[in-house]
Amino acid sequence: MKQIQSNINKSDDQYKARVELFAEIMGIYHSRMNSVIRREEDLAVIRHSSRGKLDARSRIELLIDENTPFLELSALAAFGQYEDQFSSAGIITGIGKIQGKLSMFIANDATVKGGTYIRETVKKHLRGQEIALQNHLPCVYLVDSGGIFLPEQARIFPDSDGFGRIFYNQSQMSAAGIPQISIVMGSCTAGGAYVPAMSDETIIVKNQGTIFIGGPPLVKAATGEEVTAEELGGAFVHTGISGVADHLAENEIDAIRICRNIFESIPQSESRNYEKHQIEEPKYDPREIYGLAPIDLKKPVEIYEIIARIVDGSKFEEFKREYGITLITGYARILGLPVGIIANNGFLTSESSLKGAHFIEICNFRKIPLLFLQNISGFIVGKKYEHEGIARNGAKLIHAVATAVVPKITVIIGGSFGAGNYAMAGRAYNPNFLFIWPNARIGVMGGQQAQQVLNSIKGDSSAQNTDLIQRFEDESSAYYSTSRLWDDGVIDPADTRTIVGLSLSIASNNRVDPPKNGIYRM
Ligand code: COA
Repeated sequence: MKQIQSNINKSDDQYKARVELFAEIMGIYHSRMNSVIRREEDLAVIRHSSRGKLDARSRIELLIDENTPFLELSALAAFGQYEDQFSSAGIITGIGKIQGKLSMFIANDATVKGGTYIRETVKKHLRGQEIALQNHLPCVYLVDSGGIFLPEQARIFPDSDGFGRIFYNQSQMSAAGIPQISIVMGSCTAGGAYVPAMSDETIIVKNQGTIFIGGPPLVKAATGEEVTAEELGGAFVHTGISGVADHLAENEIDAIRICRNIFESIPQSESRNYEKHQIEEPKYDPREIYGLAPIDLKKPVEIYEIIARIVDGSKFEEFKREYGITLITGYARILGLPVGIIANNGFLTSESSLKGAHFIEICNFRKIPLLFLQNISGFIVGKKYEHEGIARNGAKLIHAVATAVVPKITVIIGGSFGAGNYAMAGRAYNPNFLFIWPNARIGVMGGQQAQQVLNSIKGDSSAQNTDLIQRFEDESSAYYSTSRLWDDGVIDPADTRTIVGLSLSIASNNRVDPPKNGIYRM
């Protein structure tokens, strides 16, 4: 494979100014991440630990194999909403290894409103299950939750993507052969009781875990019966009388030990589609991306320079280098795994759309997972392009993206606007993972453009609606996106290589059958 040769001059003033500007962006990113992760002074956290309970992230840390990474997802879910009272939406999800087996973790955080569920908590829980299903990962539920956050019930209770979907998914995952284990470390109320009840095996912690369809206050209200939580659905009740749980744990550490023992009998996922090569570090430092990442989206981006800081050995074998040059396509490896890269380098045109569709077909045929590096303002517009059939050619790319049989990983590195979001494997195109850089912007169009469109519809070219422009501005930030689970997390651009490498490794659990039609030349 050819090695990309960097032309960056790090002593150049413009480069230095960009690095400085990006340091501000990263400062905001770290302070926001710390505000949801480092909560030692929060009274609810102090109360939780005074009860001898571990916090959700520590529970996961003890459960995964020593010295192995944990890929946390959507840490900033619900950020900037609900007066910031729902850190990480009250649930921690992510992927790590237990007994060498990559697994999905879904852990309630009882220090956030008793681990109750708002809309984003449900979305995050369902997304965790979706990833487990799509990538064939065993799933561990660390349960400690008061169920639905009652003031929000109307937004989460009955719809097809509401709270009930969690248990529907558990059945579907089980039917698809995905092992599911629950550890009940706290409350498990109402519908929430079905998380452990529908798992393959359930562990419950003595004098701490409870499972019941209706808690003591509800029982009192409904029947007049007075009963303590422990008598109603404590660990002894469920392991000795009801049989809802299978293992009685002395404490949380014991529960974690039992869970790790259970994982010894869980089979390793069979399908490893990809031939892994020796990992080669990039020739250029990934932290140099800070000086290359798109901040001003009107300026062109040196996409080859960015690719050189993500892929093994900075090696990239380009496909159709001279054709449709607004879309860069080619083969590389990340952490030793093969990947087909599709990266924007300007507007999507008819040529670049055809090139993208052709490349995806080849990757399907050769079982090479796809990495989309999104920085797209949209498809090219104008009479000439419409006459050329941009809609017809764009449709081919969108169709190829939607029906690709290989895993897709998307990283939004700059702009993600209009139908460009779709053609570059946006959330609606089911990428196995979708991450976003903190500088990125996502929306149907920019605020200024929206104002111009509205003005021209209304026939008033001079009107200035600053509220509208500001709203578009706010709603297109990476934090707005991640808060609403439009992505799997805002990531440090310098970690892109590691995170994409981990994602490729997780996605290699997918069984891939090459398409039956062969390759249609575009
Ligand atoms: N809806 C709305 N808020 C809830 C809630 C629920 N279901 N469950 C807990 N909360 C809130 C509490 O009001 C409290 O809010 P605050 O911090 O603003 O005071 C916070 O979550 C923590 O609850 P608290 O009871 O102080 O914590 P705890 O650790 O002692 O107990 C629970 C946690 C979950 C065991 C307990 O709150 C409980 O039993 N909740 C009701 C559970 C239930 O019946 N759910 C049915 C709905 S499906």
